[in-house]
Amino acid sequence: MTPVEFEAQLEALHAELAAANMAPTWKYVSEFVSRQPRTSYRPWLWKWHDVIPLLMRAGDLITPERGAERRSMEHVNPDLKPFYTTSHTIATAFQLVRAGESAPAHRHAAAAIRFAAKSRGGTVYTKVQGERLYMEENDLLLTPAWTWHEHHNETAHDIVWLDALDFPLVNLLQASVFEPGEGEVAPPKADGHSNRAFGLFRPAGWAPYPESHPLIRYPWVEMRQALANLAGERGSRYDGLILEYVNPANSGPTLPTMSCRAQWLRPNEATDAHRATSSTVYYVIAGSGSTVIDGTRFDWAPGDVFVVPNWSWHEHRNGDGDAYLFSITDEPVMKLLGMYREQPYVADDGSHRQAVRAQF
Ligand SMILES: [Fe+2]
Ligand SMILES: [Fe+2]
Repeated sequence: MTPVEFEAQLEALHAELAAANMAPTWKYVSEFVSRQPRTSYRPWLWKWHDVIPLLMRAGDLITPERGAERRSMEHVNPDLKPFYTTSHTIATAFQLVRAGESAPAHRHAAAAIRFAAKSRGGTVYTKVQGERLYMEENDLLLTPAWTWHEHHNETAHDIVWLDALDFPLVNLLQASVFEPGEGEVAPPKADGHSNRAFGLFRPAGWAPYPESHPLIRYPWVEMRQALANLAGERGSRYDGLILEYVNPANSGPTLPTMSCRAQWLRPNEATDAHRATSSTVYYVIAGSGSTVIDGTRFDWAPGDVFVVPNWSWHEHRNGDGDAYLFSITDEPVMKLLGMYREQPYVADDGSHRQAVRAQF
């Protein structure tokens, strides 16, 4: 066979394979198996001061008759349009619930967390499986997958919270289910039930856990105190003092698909850079500083949201005050599936910090 005949036969074979809905692995192997994780989107940052005025305008336009029960705005990564997701597995949004408003009960296969960004406290709560979870500022609330939940703001003040859902992952797995609720969706429980019964102590055998995630409200005052108790520790070289919100039923991550963390960066603290196969969305609770992601510096201030895509080098640099970051990562998914990998950054000169090419 001459080279010309060979090329002609190979081309004909490829064409017939395509017609038979088959693909030649010898031709496409590098598309099936890459040497490094492929990241399909870039890091991004949303400034609080840019997006909150838009949410307030929605507060006037999107009335209860016009769908106010979902008055939330997604953080859409420009590379992940039109799927309305922030990372490839996590979607965050800011939601505004005005004074006196409520959202009816429902449940879905996607798990969700809420982080109370702006709240003056009082009778504003999400009811999860019949239990009212009050939302003081910076509290974390969970609505694990398939749990009934509804929102009520009985105060005279608006509340803004950060939502984070795993629906991009659920949709990738084609497992989305949604059910609206009617009447009493779950037996009512006393206020504070979960935190009283399932905190440090648990009923030994006589009252089995009603849910796989018994602790569903994590007050900020307790997290902040827990961080303060570690003031003398060095913490993680990549994150400073960082704590995970733990599921006390199994000592596992906050939710099977999303681990929530809070971290305290001390004045002028600068962390080393690393990357992992997980993706993380950050919300700035307090303080100002920057995070360098793949060589680009993203400056952040309170209320800002930014995303670190999977397999992207990143490091944090704090300003001269205390900074607190809240974050949601898909790390539990990657660990569960045996796909979690992490790599420390080492520059040619041996440095563990990235050179900054450009400012955001
Ligand atoms: Fe929901
Ligand atoms: Fe990290």
